[in-house]
Amino acid sequence: MIRTRLHPDKQSAAQAIAREIADLIEIRSKSGKPTVLGLATGSTPLPLYAELIRLHREEGLSFRSVITFNLDEYEGLGPDHAQSYRYFMEANLFGHLDIPKSAIHIPDGRAADPAGECAAYEAAIRAAGGIDLQVLGIGRTGHIGFNEPPSAVDSRTRWVHLDEVTRKDNSVFFGDLAQVPHGALTMGVATILEARRVALLAFGETKADIVARAVKETPSAGCPATWLQRHQDCTFHLDAAAAKRL
Ligand code: PGA
Repeated sequence: MIRTRLHPDKQSAAQAIAREIADLIEIRSKSGKPTVLGLATGSTPLPLYAELIRLHREEGLSFRSVITFNLDEYEGLGPDHAQSYRYFMEANLFGHLDIPKSAIHIPDGRAADPAGECAAYEAAIRAAGGIDLQVLGIGRTGHIGFNEPPSAVDSRTRWVHLDEVTRKDNSVFFGDLAQVPHGALTMGVATILEARRVALLAFGETKADIVARAVKETPSAGCPATWLQRHQDCTFHLDAAAAKRL
């Protein structure tokens, strides 16, 4: 079952989730354990990342014991490309924190052997002890990460073909649809479901339909976010507009 939590606005949601992450880091680091975070890109998590940076700068929250795994990366885009997720994460989060560079993991969209890269990514998550908390957005296709429909419940980190709806939605960042890659590497649905806790964020009216489908439809590959109903500890953090069809 998916828990839904309504927030007055996205800033309040960002504050609540950032606090949850800070508590997790503080509790685990007290007993000498790392905190493994699964992270997302897109416009939705930006207020959360801004709040984590604020907690680091103003309240002394340290990320020295944090290990991160991003959900996905565009095929063919390297760290210097302004639309790569590696670049996005550095600009919007990692570049402002004290996280060790070696603790940051993002699939390599330019890997010569994508299947090998994906298998190594799964192995690195396992070696880190699994993901403690996975942050997710949701696409209008029902994708989580870049798991476009159809994505099986047992799918693993792999190369995927991007849906045209997703390419169009993301073309605002590229300025031109033709520049948006056709493929990506993404954690699979099974990879995401293995995270011990999941926090999905969705704000605004454009997400209302897909949020309602994810929460209410019978789980199926046709709407990958519905698989989250099988998770034991998954919360959708919403504003009123995104929650209006629930
Ligand atoms: P968005 O993307 O945050 O830019 O809306 C979400 C997603 O595609 O997962």
